[in-house]
Amino acid sequence: MLEITLNRKKMSLLNVRNLSTVFETSGGRTIHAVDNVTFSMAKGEIMGLVGESGCGKSVTALSILKLIPNPPGEIISGEIIFNGVDLLQLSESQMQDIRGRQIGMVFQEPMSSLNPVLKIGTQISEPLTRHLKMNKNLSLSRSLELLEMVGIPDGKQRINDYPHQFSGGQKQRIMIAIALACEPALLIADEATTALDVTVQAQILELLKDLSDNLGISLLIITHNLGIVARYAQRIAVMYAGKIREIGLATDVYRAPKHPYTAGLLDSVPKLKGKKLTRLNSIAGEVPDPTDLPLGCAYNIRCTKVVKKCNTEPGLSVHTTNQSYACWNPL
Ligand SMILES: Nc1ncnc2c1ncn2[C@@H]1O[C@H](COP(=O)(O)OP(=O)(O)O)[C@@H](O)[C@H]1O
Ligand SMILES: [Mg+2]
Repeated sequence: MLEITLNRKKMSLLNVRNLSTVFETSGGRTIHAVDNVTFSMAKGEIMGLVGESGCGKSVTALSILKLIPNPPGEIISGEIIFNGVDLLQLSESQMQDIRGRQIGMVFQEPMSSLNPVLKIGTQISEPLTRHLKMNKNLSLSRSLELLEMVGIPDGKQRINDYPHQFSGGQKQRIMIAIALACEPALLIADEATTALDVTVQAQILELLKDLSDNLGISLLIITHNLGIVARYAQRIAVMYAGKIREIGLATDVYRAPKHPYTAGLLDSVPKLKGKKLTRLNSIAGEVPDPTDLPLGCAYNIRCTKVVKKCNTEPGLSVHTTNQSYACWNPL
């Protein structure tokens, strides 16, 4: 029995293969927002997806959920195998059964996801009655259980409160309760803690990690802050201009990054020296215009290690079994 459980844990839950998602601009140009992205997640694994703003993290998440607005967007190729099924082959009504039931999501702005005129009890019950067909009593007791699980005290009273009666951190906890209501196999947290102050950020991430550990939920943490995920994720994928540039065990990527972009991101994480917070070094230059990427490696215009060959695109090469990178002149 134990062996079966262990094998199950190692099984892969999500396999994203050669995923490409584009947007057509009004000017008739194409943005390759997600370009040939491949990664997998094991059951119960916590994975960090990091990169600067505009590099394709949210479009990756929205593609997995098949929530890309069409037009202007379209998933043009690839496979998203979730629990053995290619989501790209499913109908919209089949996807509606997967979203919120098997894949939960938490986004940056709880205020735009929570309905301001509905009591939070009603909002937590909604997925329970919709997906699990629970009756009123059952969904109420499950809602109280969920509130307790995400660390909101006095659930019995608070269940009748409205979103504005909660702090930013509490609202994000409620969003997590809603996302976890049906015990999904995968939870995607897209910049879920970005709007919160540093202490609350850490508390929410700690909560997500505990929930993942205790319930065996796989967690995809999306953030522009590599410092945040290094502590919580087992593996990290670094994205830049639509492509994964480096992927590997968090400890390896953090201690010995191979891609100069990963090193640049690490360098931009504020560090404590004694009691002083050292200044941020941001990566020189800007993320290139997505409709007008440079030839070859899209990082070549900013890279300190650029060589001639960088005007051609490097593929992902395997450094160790636990770490791959796409760079001609790695660190
Ligand atoms: N609805 C949309 N219409 C047009 N372009 C979009 C849309 N959503 C995202 N994009 C483009 O896709 C690229 C990746 O965006 P996104 O995944 O949101 O980045 P981030 O890594 O900050 O989450 C960006 O160039 C962005 O402008
Ligand atoms: Mg985003």
